Amino acid sequence: MPEIITTIAELRARVADARRVAHQDGPSDAPTGRVVLVPTMGALHEGHLRLVSQARDLGGFVVVSIFVNPLQFGPGEDLERYPRTLDADVTALEGLADVVFAPSASEMYPSGPSETRVIAGESGLLFEGASRPGHFDGVLTVVSKLFNIVQPDVAVFGQKDAQQVHVIGRMVDDLNLPVSIAVVDTVRESDGLALSSRNRYLDDDQRLAAVTLSRALGAGAERAGDGVEASLRAARAHVEADPAVKLDYLAIVDPDTFREASPDHHGPALMLIAARVGTTRLIDNQRLTT
Ligand code: PAJ
Repeated sequence: MPEIITTIAELRARVADARRVAHQDGPSDAPTGRVVLVPTMGALHEGHLRLVSQARDLGGFVVVSIFVNPLQFGPGEDLERYPRTLDADVTALEGLADVVFAPSASEMYPSGPSETRVIAGESGLLFEGASRPGHFDGVLTVVSKLFNIVQPDVAVFGQKDAQQVHVIGRMVDDLNLPVSIAVVDTVRESDGLALSSRNRYLDDDQRLAAVTLSRALGAGAERAGDGVEASLRAARAHVEADPAVKLDYLAIVDPDTFREASPDHHGPALMLIAARVGTTRLIDNQRLTT
C-alpha cells in the first residue's frame, strides 16, 4: 500500500528522505532522486491511474496528491457533493504510487481561503474560465502550493482538461517554475465518453446522452479538412440533435495560444466542448487538423 501522509511537514520530510536515499543508492548516471507528482481531487478512475502509471514509468518517487480544492469551485458548484473515496483511491494506487498526500482543507489553507493567489492570464478567462469565474486562479494557486510542497521534478496532467494543461504550462513558463510538465492522452469508455469523476452523477439515460459530446467531437474532426467553420457546424449539428445535452461552448482553438482559431486557420487545432447533461457539466476535447 502507498503511504498516506496528511501533513505538509511530514510530506516534505518523506520526499527529502526519498531523494537522499536515491542519491546514495543509485548509479551515478541514473535519474536518481527524481520526484514525480500527480495532482488529483480523488475519486480515482482509469484516467487518473493512467497518469500515475506514466509517473511510474518516468522512474523515481511517485507522489499522488488527493485534495478537493475549495478554491477552484464557484458558488453553487458541486464542492459539497464532489465524491470523496479515499480508501478506495489508496487501494487503487497499490503498486503505482509511493505516497498519497491527502491533506485536509485546514492543512492547505490554515487561515481560510488563501489571501495570496496565482492569477491566470487571458487564456484562463476564456471557455472554462468564462463559465467558471475564478476557477483557474483556484487551480493555479493550489497547483503552485503543491509544487512548493512536493518540489517535483515532473508533474503529470491529463489532456482531458486541455485548458488546465495550457494555463499550468503558462504559469510554469511565466514564473520560471523548476518543474517539467508531462501530459497524458484522454482515457475513454468503450463508447467514447471521457472518463471523469463527475460521470458518477449521471443516471442511465444521462449516461447514454453523455456520449454525444465525444461523438460531436468525432463529427467535427471528420469535417476538419473542410475548414474551421464546416467542422464546427458538423459538431454543433450533432449536439443540437440531442435535446438531453445543453451546449455551454463549442470552439476550435489554436493549441499554442488557446485563442479561437480564425476561419482560415490551417494546421493543428483543438476542438473544445462543454455541455450540461441534467445538472452535470461535462467537458471534452479533441485534436484535429484543419
Ligand atoms: P481531477 O479532476 O481529479 O483530475 C486530476 C488529473 O487527472 C488532471 O490532470 C486531469 O486532467 C486528469 N484526468 C481526469 N480525467 C482524465 C481522463 N479521462 N483521461 C486522462 N486524464 C484525466 O484536474 C484536477 O483534478 C484539479 O484541477 C487539480 C489539477 C488536481 C487541481 O486541484
